[in-house]
Amino acid sequence: METVLIAGGSGTIGKYLSKKLIENGFKVNLLSRTNKSISGITTYLWNVENQYLDEKAIESADYIINLSGANIGEKKWSSKRKKEISDSRVDSNKLLFNQIEKQNKKVKAFISASAVGYYGMITSDKIFTENDLPANDFLGMVCNKWEESCNSFENYGIRTVKIRTGVVLNSGDGALSKMMLPIKMFVGSPLGTGNQFIPWIYIDDLCNIYLKAIMDEKMNGAFNAVAPEHIYNKNFTKLLAKILNKPLLLPNIPAFVLKIILGEMAKLVLEGSRISSKKIENMGFHFNYPTLNSALNQIILNK
Ligand SMILES: NC(=O)c1ccc[n+]([C@@H]2O[C@H](COP(=O)([O-])OP(=O)(O)OC[C@H]3O[C@@H](n4cnc5c(N)ncnc54)[C@H](OP(=O)(O)O)[C@@H]3O)[C@@H](O)[C@H]2O)c1
Repeated sequence: METVLIAGGSGTIGKYLSKKLIENGFKVNLLSRTNKSISGITTYLWNVENQYLDEKAIESADYIINLSGANIGEKKWSSKRKKEISDSRVDSNKLLFNQIEKQNKKVKAFISASAVGYYGMITSDKIFTENDLPANDFLGMVCNKWEESCNSFENYGIRTVKIRTGVVLNSGDGALSKMMLPIKMFVGSPLGTGNQFIPWIYIDDLCNIYLKAIMDEKMNGAFNAVAPEHIYNKNFTKLLAKILNKPLLLPNIPAFVLKIILGEMAKLVLEGSRISSKKIENMGFHFNYPTLNSALNQIILNK
């Protein structure tokens, strides 16, 4: 049985991915900052700031996935928080690599989360592909440094995959529950102009991409993980309200209000790029939930 070590695997994606990997015959171990008791899963400790990692975690790993990182939507982006967002991603990759080198370990693949923030939040008709350059805004620079920190694995001869993820839709806590709440309370409405894109992906499709990244030896480099359907914020909001069977009573929330509340983070919801899913599809990947309608029906109505 092959073992997948998931760093930061206690979060939204990690929990779902762990189950999927176990269902597909893998053993899963986690790397976490705190001891977690999850049945069937061994948790090893690490401390990214102090560059400490339990070497048993690396010893037993055939594959490593790094999902760790301070959540970008949890707190306002002060300069301290920005540093935390960046360091938790870049330094965790560095720590994993240093430990691999120290233990002279060759894993079969290293897979790191990345994000579509790589391309910047740009509302236009341009469809971004993996060949486009990183943006020079905060998230673009973080994603670029995050991906560059994967290069040492590649240079060491380890197959390396970077998953540029869109907004992940799932049934628990996450972006979708934040979008549903105001609609359920009759105060939902599109944000700003509503004409910005929301590059999204259903969590099950995303975890199938991670599974493919483990199993498909031809996968190398960066891949966008977004559903093929491109949707505007206003159409996303309308469909969500329709499926929740709630009316949208209010006009769009003006951009300036969101900027006052969220500061620089407002860009996350006020702008949004169109992102291509073609590269992963050309590798033979099939989306089970290619349209927002299919994903929301599955998440909300379970059908
Ligand atoms: N969810 C999305 O919509 C989305 C979209 C694009 C990209 N991504 C990326 O995909 C990855 C996983 O996303 P997720 O939604 O599962 O994230 P999440 O729920 O926030 O979980 C991330 C995990 O990272 C660890 N972590 C948090 N702060 C940390 C810090 N300061 N230093 C080191 N580790 C820290 C935590 O694990 P422990 O507490 O166990 O240490 C946490 O469970 C993230 O890197 C995220 O940026 C997610």
